[in-house]
Order: sequence, then structure tokens, then C-alpha cells
Amino acid sequence: MQSSDVRATARQHLFPHFTPRQAWHSPQLPVIVRGEGCHVFDEEGRRFLDGLAGLFCVNIGYGRSDIAAAATEQMETLHFWPNWSAAHPAAVEAATKIAGLAPGDLDVVFFVNSGSEAVESAIKFARQYHRSRGEASRTKMIARDMAYHGTSMGALSVTGIPKYKEPFGPLLEGVRHIPNTLGESVPAQGSAAQLPSLEKLVATIEEEGPETVAAVFAEPVQNSRGALVPPEGYWAELRAICDRYGILLVADEVISGYGRLGTWFGSEKFGVVPDLLTFAKGSTSGYAPLGGVLIRQELAEGLMDSPTGGVFTHGATWGAHPVATRVATANLKALHDEDVLGNVGRLEPRFQAGLTALADAHPTIAEWRGTGFFYAIEFTGDRESGRTLTDQQSVELVREVMPRAMREAGLITRPDDRGATMLILSPPLIADEAVLDELLTAVDHVAAAVDGHVR
Ligand SMILES: Cc1ncc(COP(=O)(O)O)c(C=O)c1O
Repeated sequence: MQSSDVRATARQHLFPHFTPRQAWHSPQLPVIVRGEGCHVFDEEGRRFLDGLAGLFCVNIGYGRSDIAAAATEQMETLHFWPNWSAAHPAAVEAATKIAGLAPGDLDVVFFVNSGSEAVESAIKFARQYHRSRGEASRTKMIARDMAYHGTSMGALSVTGIPKYKEPFGPLLEGVRHIPNTLGESVPAQGSAAQLPSLEKLVATIEEEGPETVAAVFAEPVQNSRGALVPPEGYWAELRAICDRYGILLVADEVISGYGRLGTWFGSEKFGVVPDLLTFAKGSTSGYAPLGGVLIRQELAEGLMDSPTGGVFTHGATWGAHPVATRVATANLKALHDEDVLGNVGRLEPRFQAGLTALADAHPTIAEWRGTGFFYAIEFTGDRESGRTLTDQQSVELVREVMPRAMREAGLITRPDDRGATMLILSPPLIADEAVLDELLTAVDHVAAAVDGHVR
């Protein structure tokens, strides 16, 4: 099929995810056919640097024959068996490996097929866990403004981005959102407990009644408002607040898990053991769909041993799929054997120095934020004068100017308008010096286009 035919047929038969009609019908709609390392190729053979690792997931890079071989072998041996009243070696091995990487006593893995399902499962586990201990009133959830936790109705309820929720009418009751950490820092001689967002968390718990709150959800570094790295001590204080009120702390590590921040999990980086940890994306580097919830041993046992519980009343046919879990094991082995996390740690200073140089060179870069291989560049009208972007300029930048400049530069990544005008950078974790330099050069071109448009 010619690429023009693929586009026309896609419009007829393929219904896209989160894609405006204008982009879906555009003659520029990317048709990607092949990947190799940190690059992908379209039908015309054009090479693009993948600055978003697919969708924050292709941590080990494209075109791995070892992972494909593991999948093939598993398909030939046992392509399917459910995780209902049965176990199989592929899932057991992956769960053991993941538990070994996770902090503290996060030792039990409940596998699903996506990040949304992982968050959905964490919501249901939290509610059933409390109920099994005689605390059926604990049904409410608290999450943060602008946080993205997925699209199924429960996960969407804890998501804090209004425009994703509005089309669907009433969602789960009893979900509250508190401020994220944008612009916050711990006062000199003060502590994280004085952060306005955490004071608001405590006030919210008190308002709702602590005995009604089941769980608090947060990402180690929040993506949607632009790679918000938490202030010093934030996660320790979150942990302390949840402990004080008997609330489960859920770290949503769908993006931060499996090396994105330079550690196996973001929770490790910020020195906390959450009660539940949701993951997906990087667990297989996208070679197969997989998600899951890591559960602290005593909570999992608590639910299974409870006279009123005894079973987690939740599951899915494809949960702990043999091929996906086998792929996860192969992916984690490659990340480990090739010291991919070491690569992130070694190159983080180069990445950050490059971003600082770009910010110095471009008057429209307000700031960059992030850590590891996970960054957001936030744009403004003019940094020096404090002139902000108009709504119209922001729309033009995100829909036209940045995508065009990215195409010219051979870069694929995400211009973002969730709360500000941003460009998100999250390359495969195997990117070396040359790839990082290629990425920064491409971003320089995009930032120059932004400067030119708003001048
Ligand atoms: C933090 C977080 N949680 C949950 C999800 C939902 O994951 P999925 O798209 O696999 O359903 C995402 C997706 O980007 C995410 O970033």
C-alpha cells in the first residue's frame, strides 16, 4: 500500500486515540513502518529521532531480536494460559524479577495490560483492602491537579485534567484533587510539611473525614503539567501523612518505572516505599502490552487472609499473559545487562547542560524541568520582559509551528498545551552522546521556530 492509500484507508477504518479530526485527515499524518535503536522510519524511508520513546515506553529502543526471540519461543511453548486459579512460569519469573527490583516490601505483582488498568486495579484493591479490614467507609481517592492517570472510568476519575473528563458526565464520586507541586519549594529552615500542596492535602483529608479516604495517587515526577520534579522531602511527607491517617499511598509509575528517571523506580529515587505502585509502558519497552500493580506483601496477604475478603475480586483474561510477561523478563534482562540505567545517570548532566544552553539561546524558553531522561521545556512570549503567549499563539505553536519544525528537523516528540505551552522530551534510555546531541540540535530548530513565530 502507498502511504497516501494507508492514510485514506486509516481514515475509513481505523478510529484514532486522542487525535483531532484535522490531524487525522492531514496529508502529513505520520505513517511509521520500522524502528531501529532510537530512530523510526516512515513509508517514504525518512528517518526520525524518537524523542518520546514511542509514548514514554520504548526504553530499550527499537528492533531488538533478543526480545522478539523470547516472544517467539513463548508463543511456541505456551502462548496463553490465564492467571485465574493457575500460574505459569513466564508470569512467575517476571513477577519475581520485578519484585526484586522494586523498593522495600513491594513484593507481589498483579499483572494487567495497560497503565489505565493498573490504576483501575489499584483503586479497586484499595477499596477492597479497607473493606476487608472492616473499614468499608474508606472509598474516596485524592489525586493532584493536571495529573494523567488513564482513561478507564475509575482511572479517569482520579485524572486531574478537566478536558479529558468533561465529555463523559458523572464519574466516580468522592474523588478530590489537590494542587501539584508547580512552582513550590521548601522554605529555608522549613520542611516539606509546609508546602501549600501538602497543607492542602491534610486539609482535604480532614474535610472529607480521614475514615472515608482510601488512597492518595501521585506520580513521582508529574508528566502532564510538564515534568514536575517534587521539592526535597515531598514524598517522605506524603508517606508520613498517609501513615498518620491510615490511607494507602499509590505511586503511579507508569512513566517513571523501569529507568526513565535513572533508577528502576521513581519511588527509589525519592526514597519512599508506597503501598501500591502502578506500572506499564517501560516494563516491556512496548514489545508487548503489559501493566501491573506492585503491592506490599502485608497488604496482599491482609486481603487474601481476611475472613471477609479472601480473594481480590478483580481480573482480566489477558492479565499476566505468557507472551507479555516473557517479553518483560527479556526486556528487564537487556536493561540490566547493558547497564541502561547507568547510561541515563552518566548522560543526565550532558542532557541538562544542553537544555540550559538552549534556554539561554532562546528568549521564548521560560524554563526546563525534569530529571533522568524525562524533561519538559516550557515556552512563553518573552522571558526577559515577562510577556506571556496569547491563547491564539499557543494553539498555533502546538498545532502548526512546532509540528512543522519537528518534521523539518526529523524529530518526533510531543508539543503539549496542558497548562502551558511545552515540548516534552523522553527519548529511549539507550540514547548515547551522539543521539542526545542530535536531539538537542533538533530542539534548537524547534525553539528557533517558536522564537520566530512570536517575535
Ligand atoms: C502516569 C500515567 N498513568 C497511567 C497512564 C495510562 O496508561 P495507558 O495509556 O497504558 O492506559 C499513563 C499514560 O500515559 C500515565 O502517564
